[in-house]
Amino acid sequence: MKRLPTLQLVPGMVVADDVMNPSHQLILSRDTVLTDALIMKLDLYGVLTVHVKDEILALPDSQPAPTETSYFERVKQSPQFRSFKKVYDVEVDSFKGMINNVVEKNTRLDVKELLSRSLMMVTDDRGHISILDMLHNMREYDDSTFAHCLNVGLICNVFARWLQLSEEEVEMATACGLLHDVGKLLVPRDIITKPGKLTDLEYYQVKKHSFEGYQLLMSQNIDRHICNAALMHHERCDGSGYPQGLKDNEIDRYAKIVAIADVYDAMTSARVYRAPICPFKVIGIFESEGLQRYDVAYVLCFLENIVDTYIQNGCRLSDGREGTIIFINKSKLSRPVVRCGNVYVNLAEEPDLCIEALL
Ligand SMILES: [Fe+2]
Ligand SMILES: [Fe+2]
Repeated sequence: MKRLPTLQLVPGMVVADDVMNPSHQLILSRDTVLTDALIMKLDLYGVLTVHVKDEILALPDSQPAPTETSYFERVKQSPQFRSFKKVYDVEVDSFKGMINNVVEKNTRLDVKELLSRSLMMVTDDRGHISILDMLHNMREYDDSTFAHCLNVGLICNVFARWLQLSEEEVEMATACGLLHDVGKLLVPRDIITKPGKLTDLEYYQVKKHSFEGYQLLMSQNIDRHICNAALMHHERCDGSGYPQGLKDNEIDRYAKIVAIADVYDAMTSARVYRAPICPFKVIGIFESEGLQRYDVAYVLCFLENIVDTYIQNGCRLSDGREGTIIFINKSKLSRPVVRCGNVYVNLAEEPDLCIEALL
């Protein structure tokens, strides 16, 4: 085993240790056989040196096309995903029981208990599979308010770490995400699950969930930030949100974190009226209209980290070609460079093409 400067790496060398970026995201895992594209990736991430094994493997002349079994398919088949799914089911159920008791019987909401159960999901051994990859495979699975709240709590947990918040703040962000939509349980269920367009009156009732949630949590003497996140997660920095049309500094910073995680989860999940939207399309939507509506520093941090998790992921383009995402354009995060066979497609220069699906 030896440590070599990235510039001296050659295809066929085998990575001897996991390679992480400065924010502790995995870039390459141990035992990966290096290719030109992977060496370029290390360079792009500013990785200066890498531990490699002594032997160099012969690579086939043309590197294999992206995956016969896609990455997400492999995640789905992994024992870690199967156990995540089991725990997820148990947690959604227990969350349901806990919140129903609060809403129906006015029992005391034990935020600590709720939080510690969800934090266990984050700390459980998932091998190299991130929480976001796990959630990506749950997209068609359960669109209940409870599952959505659990997803948003888990996304807030990851997001707060990307923002380099303290451990205490990471926990607060997680709790805010978990409880942001409790008010929806007080809105008639047939309106929440209605597949078609809502009437004005129904929309008004749905919008009340933020205030209803706030009142419910306040009546339980729960931390102010958690109550504020329930009240303000639909507020937008340009004043276009509800219920009060608050702006920038008037919005609790945890509500700003929840707002981004909430929209991301809602759009990338299946709904009764539509299939999940591909994360790169969601990132494109955030890029085109998100910078005024959300806290700029937060939304940029979120998007940059989200796209980084998809480097080396298989994808299908809107013209049907399949390839691998190999380079993120920092000024156009939703339009990376995709390698299709031996062709490099720079989506930043191909306005008519986009990523249709992740594989
Ligand atoms: Fe909401
Ligand atoms: Fe929500």
